[in-house]
Amino acid sequence: MNPILKLARPDILSLQQYQHAAWDPTLERMHANEMPWRADGDRSGAGLNRYPEPQPDALIHHLAKLYGVEPKQVLAGRGSDEGIDLLVRAFCRAGQDSVLICPPTFGMYKVSARIQGAGVIEVPLLKERGFELDTQAVLAAWNENVKLVFVCTPNNPTGNLLDRASVEALCSQLSNKALVVVDEAYIEFADVPSMSQDLARFPNLVILRTLSKAYALAGARCGALLAHEDIISLLARVITPYALPTQTIDAVLQFTDEEHVAESKERIAQILSERARLVERLAPLPLIRQVWASDSNFILVDCHDADAVLRAALGAGLIIRDPRSQPGLSTSLRISIGTPEQNDRLILGVARASGVAA
Ligand SMILES: Cc1ncc(COP(=O)(O)O)c(C=O)c1O
Repeated sequence: MNPILKLARPDILSLQQYQHAAWDPTLERMHANEMPWRADGDRSGAGLNRYPEPQPDALIHHLAKLYGVEPKQVLAGRGSDEGIDLLVRAFCRAGQDSVLICPPTFGMYKVSARIQGAGVIEVPLLKERGFELDTQAVLAAWNENVKLVFVCTPNNPTGNLLDRASVEALCSQLSNKALVVVDEAYIEFADVPSMSQDLARFPNLVILRTLSKAYALAGARCGALLAHEDIISLLARVITPYALPTQTIDAVLQFTDEEHVAESKERIAQILSERARLVERLAPLPLIRQVWASDSNFILVDCHDADAVLRAALGAGLIIRDPRSQPGLSTSLRISIGTPEQNDRLILGVARASGVAA
């Protein structure tokens, strides 16, 4: 057994899993209290009158291939948001345990911890070093109630990749002490391999991947949690039995086949070239103080007057993200890279608000 499981909540370790209706497509179903007919016009593959297959075999094999791991190392859920929630629920005892996060970062780590009644220890990224991970400070902040350390690379909302060696150092220094959860939601936009090949080296490593970004499937709600098979088995006991809707399963299988993966690569190339253009055009504008280097499909900009930039975007019919409540981001805004036409509109709006020609 993976020794890291000793960190899980004892009541989850001993939990009797819900016995969902047996899955046997060779038999006709009279065991799940479903309607025997489809709704008029239901043209889904399996029929929406039927509960979907829990952790569908075809989907799990497909995701394993997509992410270069073994099927037993994959748990599919409703976005990586669900992976975060499952980890916190399975490993953190309410009122006793904590997660460690490195702000500014993705907000759901903290929210999931709060919902579970877990503590949140914050070790800020080093802004003066381009929002790099402060490995020594993370290790110093760890205590035996810290069960999960979340690192996001490339990080949202700062956009930068974290130093791979630092993340690996966390995994090895925290082996048997905490799970290191590496959120790779934006890794397809960065020119580096995923850490999935490191799962064998680090039994305490968990990787979060999502179909929401590079594969343009945010509305389908599907993410994959990659980890040692014992961690997957534990979380499979906690996830709701029929987590993935039939339409989600169909959409992921359809839109991440070879042809769509190739298309996604082309789209990513387009995003990267638009990102470079947006940076080049925004950086010199008087309202903009600094554009941070990005390895993702968004950029973080520091502004002389962030309210004026927000208003300019709104005036151009565009919403950009205001992350100013996060530590170190009191003058920053986050901009997702749009279509060339949307990016042009933003550049023009901010240029006008700056009192210069675009
Ligand atoms: C870093 C990061 N992780 C996870 C998520 C959640 O993604 P999903 O759509 O897979 O739930 C997001 C969404 O924006 C994100 O930015």
